[in-house]
Amino acid sequence: MDITFTPGNPASVACDALIVPVATGDDGLDWPQIGRDIGLDDAGELAALASEGRFTGALAQTLAVPTFGSLPARRLVVAGLGSAERISDEGIARALGAAARAARQAGAVRVIAALPHDTAGSDLSAALEAAATGVAMATYRFDRYRGAAAPEVAKTPEITSLTFVDDRLPEASAQTALDRAAAVAGAVNLARDLVNEPGAFLTPEMLAARAREIAAESGLTIDILGPDELAELGAAATLAVGGGSAHPPRLIRLRYDPETPPSDSRVPGLVGKAITFDTGGYSIKPYEAMLDMKGDMAGGAAVLGAMSALRQLGCPVPVEATICAAENMISGAAFRPGDVIRGMNGVTMEILSTDAEGRLVLADGMVDTARRGATELIDLATLTGAAVVALGEGTTALFASDDALAERLLQAADETGERLWRMPLTSELEKKIEGDVADIKNTGGRAGGAITAALFLQHFREGLPWAHLDIAGASMQSKPNALGPKGGTGVGVRTLLEYLTASTQNEAPGG
Ligand code: BES
Ligand code: MN
Ligand code: ZN
Repeated sequence: MDITFTPGNPASVACDALIVPVATGDDGLDWPQIGRDIGLDDAGELAALASEGRFTGALAQTLAVPTFGSLPARRLVVAGLGSAERISDEGIARALGAAARAARQAGAVRVIAALPHDTAGSDLSAALEAAATGVAMATYRFDRYRGAAAPEVAKTPEITSLTFVDDRLPEASAQTALDRAAAVAGAVNLARDLVNEPGAFLTPEMLAARAREIAAESGLTIDILGPDELAELGAAATLAVGGGSAHPPRLIRLRYDPETPPSDSRVPGLVGKAITFDTGGYSIKPYEAMLDMKGDMAGGAAVLGAMSALRQLGCPVPVEATICAAENMISGAAFRPGDVIRGMNGVTMEILSTDAEGRLVLADGMVDTARRGATELIDLATLTGAAVVALGEGTTALFASDDALAERLLQAADETGERLWRMPLTSELEKKIEGDVADIKNTGGRAGGAITAALFLQHFREGLPWAHLDIAGASMQSKPNALGPKGGTGVGVRTLLEYLTASTQNEAPGG
């Protein structure tokens, strides 16, 4: 879909659907005013249709109606922004996203969209950026395996062009906003594609090949380590996790360097869990728990997505990233409960469950990222079912060794609307992972499972400020919402991009 901007009056352009975002005041929706805004002589009929459709203007609620010639647009899609006093960029993204989905559902191919009349705190170019990001995220589809031939599975047509029309915004600033939106949404949708891809078509080797293409397109340097190099490095944990698979592991190193050398020596380091399929290994998962495990690489996907957009967004700091790719399978070469693994930093790990594999590959990834010069570590991982039990679908658990780093991540998440909730690194629970025959065990039991997983990872932060995002509950959604379909969400990408590119955040944590 082409998302563009043209100066002018949105209601005077012929199109399949005109999207109009509306906010509610003290007395609900002001239909006469909405009518005047879009050039309708009489908004009475529209108001009647809205009340029949129970449209109240609530955030991301939509009403699609035919215009029967009363406007140049064939259809009108009214999108609720909620209360005029509380309009946020995230709300604008969701409202326009929901409206674009409704327009597509109604068969619209050429769409015009108006911008909010009153954007409360947000300036108009920020509103346009949010709107365009929302539209591009919301209309995402994973349909490469859907046949177009059989009518019963035929695709509903894509919107081919969506043009924002407004007479208040200078064209140059509109273009900047659209470029940023395309970079951010492109990164989110890239991560979603990787999460949605079946395990058979995204092995560690194939993920590494994709990363190589993306690095070339996005101006990143890349270094891919296969089994021989991993053995040489001492990445025994990664090799153990991938040992049972016919598709051996890869450790993918990416680096971004800004065009102009940075003023300080800060180098954020990102680490992503990328288990391309998690059967649980010999501690095998039951049928239902295994169903979504093609998505167990969502942390790595978020890291790759975020890295792909750094140059377009002009990120001012260098970034090191590591994607820990392995497939957790069963065979005569698989690792076993009771095995002991020596980590790259010398910490030894006793395997109680081969299903607690994410923390093992992350241990190698974190030490490697630290050794390459990162000054802070942020890992993203679909790490524990316990995080899903604690916070439910859609919220990421944040653990951090450093309050300043935690605050900045919480603020970045808040800016984008991704839900992040800080959890404690309860030191009393450390005894749960004390090893019997090695330094630490890879599980600490059911109670506090997300916390003991984080405490395990903490042994590999190499003295650096570190944050851990357990995205197990937010990486996939079980039903569609205003910003996208069922399946991979690309969670983490927007928070990372906001964190890495926000100008107020370019000081070292703690500084
Ligand atoms: N990939 C899973 C965690 C997961 C669960 C992600 C549900 C997404 C949705 C992880 O590798 C795992 O199996 N964790 C175990 C750890 C346990 C054995 C200590 C878990 O959470 O059950
Ligand atoms: Mn597992
Ligand atoms: Zn896993």
